[in-house]
Amino acid sequence: MFKKIVVPVDGSESAWRALRQAMEVGMKFDSEIIVITVIQPYNNAALLAVPLDNNVISQSNADLEHIGQEVLRAAKDVVGDYKHNVTYTLEVGHPSERIIAAAKETGADAIVLGSRGLSGIAEFFLGSVSSKIAQYSNVPVLICK
Ligand SMILES: Nc1ncnc2c1ncn2[C@@H]1O[C@H](COP(=O)(O)OP(=O)(O)OP(=O)(O)O)[C@@H](O)[C@H]1O
Ligand SMILES: [Mg+2]
Repeated sequence: MFKKIVVPVDGSESAWRALRQAMEVGMKFDSEIIVITVIQPYNNAALLAVPLDNNVISQSNADLEHIGQEVLRAAKDVVGDYKHNVTYTLEVGHPSERIIAAAKETGADAIVLGSRGLSGIAEFFLGSVSSKIAQYSNVPVLICK
């Protein structure tokens, strides 16, 4: 338990709190930490809604990838000198699906994440990503408040 922890981050304060708490747990269990950020590219659905040309789409996707890399860079600052192995992954797709799949693929035994993220509408306790992961993950989930 807690040997390999997936920590999904979206750049929000809530996610950084979760990352710090994952490291606290990780120090007790000598855990490896896998930091993941997921970007959602513009797809055909967006194309149907607004007739953008392909350059605009690929430019927007390049911007998204840049943002994803920035989130991972910021995650490295939060991680600091954590004593065990940490890997950083940029995934592309649907956030909760990609996070659950990544936990499976890496053989992780826990997911630690924030209750809310970037949109942070205060009246709800959970965001859509945290509630889907709590529902569909097949490993234990720690949702940090
Ligand atoms: N794109 C993402 N990549 C990686 N982790 C994410 C991503 N989005 C959310 N998370 C993780 O899920 C946690 C909860 O965020 P969530 O997106 O569910 O809440 P929200 O942004 O407040 O609401 P919503 O996105 O449903 O409008 C975050 O603190 C972070 O740990
Ligand atoms: Mg969100």
